[in-house]
Amino acid sequence: MTVTLRPNNLDAFWMPYTANRAYKARPRLLARASGVHYHTPEGREVLDGTAGLWCVNAGHGRREIAEAIKRQADEMDFAPTFQMGHPIAFEAAATLAEFLPDGIERVFWTNSGSEAADTALKMALAYHRARGEGQRVRLIGRERGYHGCGFGGMSVGGIVANRRQFGAQLPFVDHLPHTHSRAHQAFSRGEPDWGAHLADALEDLVKLHGDTIAAVMVEPVAGSTGVLVPPKGYLMRLRELCTRHGILLIFDEVITGFSRLGAGFAADYFGIVPDIMTMAKGLTNAAVPMGAVATTDAVYDAVVNGAPGGIEFFHGYTYSGHPLACAAAIASIRIHREEDLAGRVRDLQPYWQETMHGLGAAAGVLDVRDIGLIAGIELQPREGRPTERAMAVFHRCFDDGLLVRVTGDVVALSPPLIVERAHVDRIAETLDRAIRAEPA
Ligand SMILES: Cc1ncc(COP(=O)(O)O)c(C=O)c1O
Repeated sequence: MTVTLRPNNLDAFWMPYTANRAYKARPRLLARASGVHYHTPEGREVLDGTAGLWCVNAGHGRREIAEAIKRQADEMDFAPTFQMGHPIAFEAAATLAEFLPDGIERVFWTNSGSEAADTALKMALAYHRARGEGQRVRLIGRERGYHGCGFGGMSVGGIVANRRQFGAQLPFVDHLPHTHSRAHQAFSRGEPDWGAHLADALEDLVKLHGDTIAAVMVEPVAGSTGVLVPPKGYLMRLRELCTRHGILLIFDEVITGFSRLGAGFAADYFGIVPDIMTMAKGLTNAAVPMGAVATTDAVYDAVVNGAPGGIEFFHGYTYSGHPLACAAAIASIRIHREEDLAGRVRDLQPYWQETMHGLGAAAGVLDVRDIGLIAGIELQPREGRPTERAMAVFHRCFDDGLLVRVTGDVVALSPPLIVERAHVDRIAETLDRAIRAEPA
């Protein structure tokens, strides 16, 4: 089907995280989607190598999700969750709690990963204060971490470009070193052998800040800064250090959740229970915006049952637990369970890994990294013109029928989890052609 209606004015939309002038001079539009494909307004098919933005894990156009949203819209469009409730918000929380790792059973609804990050940080602060440790006000993030673009997530995040324009950040924030070293890790398959010791930097921060640290927040696998896979043993060491020093460990599972690694969450995959987890994206298969913060009984009990009465946590969003989002989440989680998307990832992962590492043969590929159904292909940048080569590869791929994502000079791949081997082949062939056509 060809969609003939085209927007004829691109001016009004100030696009997020986009080079607006460059985009509007050379727009790329996606008008329709189903399965693992997008279609442009002209009707050209584009293989989705990125699950939208790491979010359409169950594939596009899932009828079960669309029907659940429609049913809910007909039944009740909206009801508040401040001092009121509606059944589906509780049902969705219980459904999610069952899907979460054991030990994590309380759910706070947000509308995005950014809101989930800020909510998680505030939850950690409230937890310590409720327990009489109000001196724990320091939040520790990690270099090259991304936790969305609210002030909390931006401050705890470690992406220089995301902070530079905005002056003051949150106070009382510090950072662990990132875990990536091309010298020690290039072309690792899965978790690199080198780098677990980098978690010990938390000991140095504890020496420096004493008992004022409230929480450490990390992405189990950092996506936005180019697919940084955690070194073997690193996350476990971070868990042990947090426990030893009374610090809450927050996993930002916005991209690693919902079967992406071949387990429900990265916490399941690595066998580590954090104190707080954030999620979004795959939660509703991105059909309706939604995020969540999930935590342990211990955190919930300290904040909620420890309060004298009245509102226990002065935080929330008008759309926390929005009925349409809840309907989408329930339907989406059902698909993950019934189709065993995590199992699909585990089955396909060896082929994915092998095929992606094949891309290392092209000239000017500095590294290939992978875990689950994620890969990062790091390109040698053009002399004095960082990111130009990767952008050129991105454009070539799109023209050749493949959507990839680039961040710096890394091409990041995270297709819908329903891809087949033939799609993996097409991703690799198209990307290989583009990389060879755009030398450093
Ligand atoms: C790890 C991580 N945290 C948080 C976010 C922010 O999510 P959102 O864009 O829904 O606010 C993202 C988005 O890519 C992410 O990758």
